[in-house]
Amino acid sequence: MVILGIETSCDETSAAIIKDGVLLSNIVSSQIEEHVKFGGVVPEVASRLHAENITLVIRKALEEAKVTLDDLDAVAVTRGPGLVGALHVGIQAAKTICMLYNIPLIPVNHLIGHIYANEFVKPLEYPLLAVIVSGGHSELVLMKEELDFQVLGQTRDDAIGESYDKVARVLGLPYPGGVPIDQNAKEGEHIYKFPTPLHGENTYDLSYSGLKTNVINLVNTLQMKGEPYKMQDICRSFQDVAVGQVIERTLKAVNDFDIKNVVVCGGVSANSYLRSKMKEELDKLGVNLMIPPIWSCTDNAAMIAKAGEVLYKHKLFAPLTISPDPNWRVEDYKSF
Ligand code: KG4
Ligand code: ZN
Repeated sequence: MVILGIETSCDETSAAIIKDGVLLSNIVSSQIEEHVKFGGVVPEVASRLHAENITLVIRKALEEAKVTLDDLDAVAVTRGPGLVGALHVGIQAAKTICMLYNIPLIPVNHLIGHIYANEFVKPLEYPLLAVIVSGGHSELVLMKEELDFQVLGQTRDDAIGESYDKVARVLGLPYPGGVPIDQNAKEGEHIYKFPTPLHGENTYDLSYSGLKTNVINLVNTLQMKGEPYKMQDICRSFQDVAVGQVIERTLKAVNDFDIKNVVVCGGVSANSYLRSKMKEELDKLGVNLMIPPIWSCTDNAAMIAKAGEVLYKHKLFAPLTISPDPNWRVEDYKSF
């Protein structure tokens, strides 16, 4: 079975081909260079660039996989969550191919794509706790079996990746801020004490707005007073608390639900400190940890095609009248 995956929810235009579980191609055209001058993603610019690039990206994915549109058995496309105009471009492309070639259209929830990116390592083992940490989302999801999602907690305000991007901006680091903060934190000391949001509270929710504001206020105060500081120390102090919160919530859920398998995913799962600290803490408890390979942590169509294979088995096909849902919840993945 050959599936074309399409992802256009934010600032990567991506297409991938998967054949019987084997990834044949995964083309990712990043728009970051265009958005970097604005310090973040500009939705109108994102839609325009997706529209300009989508045909080329799909063509490249087919060429690299050495398949043609005639060979496709289905198209899996991100329907949400994401930027509505950006999602539209991928969905229109998917609908067009499905109509012309009379093949099923599989709408994929972007976060489910992130979770199933782990199947590029090995098949998921249930029950599991999925820890989704990305630019738009921070969620803890309990999966008792395949495609069974119970959201235990989510962000009350900003997502973790968003806080990385905002903190990077105030420190004069480029967008997106995750990688530069991750790198600079390695050369810094944890000398600034920021409170851990929701520390010790009986919740699986996360919160990043207060931490982000604390860091921004600190930098502004230091600059106003003309006090010298090492940007690396601020990166380290911020990152320890940002990642510490994810670890604290994960350990609470692991303990409360007697979890044996944890899956971390989303753009922030590329973070080196999160990867090592999570492993260290879960090893102590004898809990298995899965994290996708770095290439499939951030947005890509391979993960959408992978999730598409799972949804195909359950015949979750959509009519060609579907629209994007910018706020599509994981548990509602069957409603479109
Ligand atoms: O999953 P993703 O590509 O897009 C969304 O679905 O949001 O995640 C992008 C986010 C950005 O906020 C970026 O700063 C963050 O992932 N990110 C990282 C790292 N690499 C990417 N955050 C922390 N450390 C990293 N190494
Ligand atoms: Zn994502």
